[in-house]
Amino acid sequence: MLKDKSLIAPSDLTLDEIEELLVLAERIIQNPARYASVCRGKILASLFYEPSTRTKFSFDAAMLRLGGSTLGFSDPSTSSAAKGETIADSARTVGQYSDLIVVRHPKEGTAKLMSRYAGCPVVNAGDGGHHHPTQTLTDLLTIRHYKGGFEGLTVGVCGDLKFGRTIHSLTTCLARYSNVRFLFISPEELSMPAFVKEELDANSVSYEETTSLESCIGRLDVLYMSRVQRERFISEEEYLRLKDYFILTQEKLNQAKADTIVMHPLPRINEIATEIDGDPRAVYFDQVKFGMYVRMALIMKLLGMPEPQN
Ligand code: CP
Repeated sequence: MLKDKSLIAPSDLTLDEIEELLVLAERIIQNPARYASVCRGKILASLFYEPSTRTKFSFDAAMLRLGGSTLGFSDPSTSSAAKGETIADSARTVGQYSDLIVVRHPKEGTAKLMSRYAGCPVVNAGDGGHHHPTQTLTDLLTIRHYKGGFEGLTVGVCGDLKFGRTIHSLTTCLARYSNVRFLFISPEELSMPAFVKEELDANSVSYEETTSLESCIGRLDVLYMSRVQRERFISEEEYLRLKDYFILTQEKLNQAKADTIVMHPLPRINEIATEIDGDPRAVYFDQVKFGMYVRMALIMKLLGMPEPQN
């Protein structure tokens, strides 16, 4: 039962709960009008202490499309955080006004801290370089749509594996399905952190690390690109040195299989050349749309809203 739970990392969800969410999202996609009033009278608060386009707007759109209402901020300088209010007190306060809190914060662990004080479910919309579980639900729905499932896939994750929270969440979650193999493609300076690799090792999940996209692109079922996370670098010089390490061009994509899908959590900077946006294997804008539907399913489940009768 997901009702009243908080979602901080993908490991908070069992595989059965993930399946329930994906199935509900697929039902909503088939007939969105049927769900247009299921959250009438409910309020979602979105507290974004870091910039966002997709996560913020897709949660807001999801709640509005379910007939509920939204409040919140996308600029913390307009909230009492600017006066020094603690996260615990903000959570206690916003929890009085809303049924569900969605929070993004640059500091790892903030969503978990909020969930202790809010008195309502809290969803982590990204905490520093740690986790981003609703991006993972988005990614799973996308992969399932194009690949029919997860078992046996060879997944390449490419770019900033060190700071990319979407990568950490997706990798540890996909590793729970049978026979998924990973190619970790990054410059050495941005390789996959130990906490992810230790989890894979503990579960005997197969992965290889490489600095060359060209050497492995032909083996991939899914290529998950990511941007170099400028905001997490201490040195601007280091960021400038690494930011263009991987650029996926049509010439490189031509070496991939005909049914490889190219995903990206977005925003894209220049790691995917726009020339491949029209390639049928480029699915990152469909991925955006799946994000809204899976968040509709998540909101319904966390609030315990039943299937509509109509
Ligand atoms: N994928 C993602 O988290 O995008 P935003 O930063 O725009 O929310």
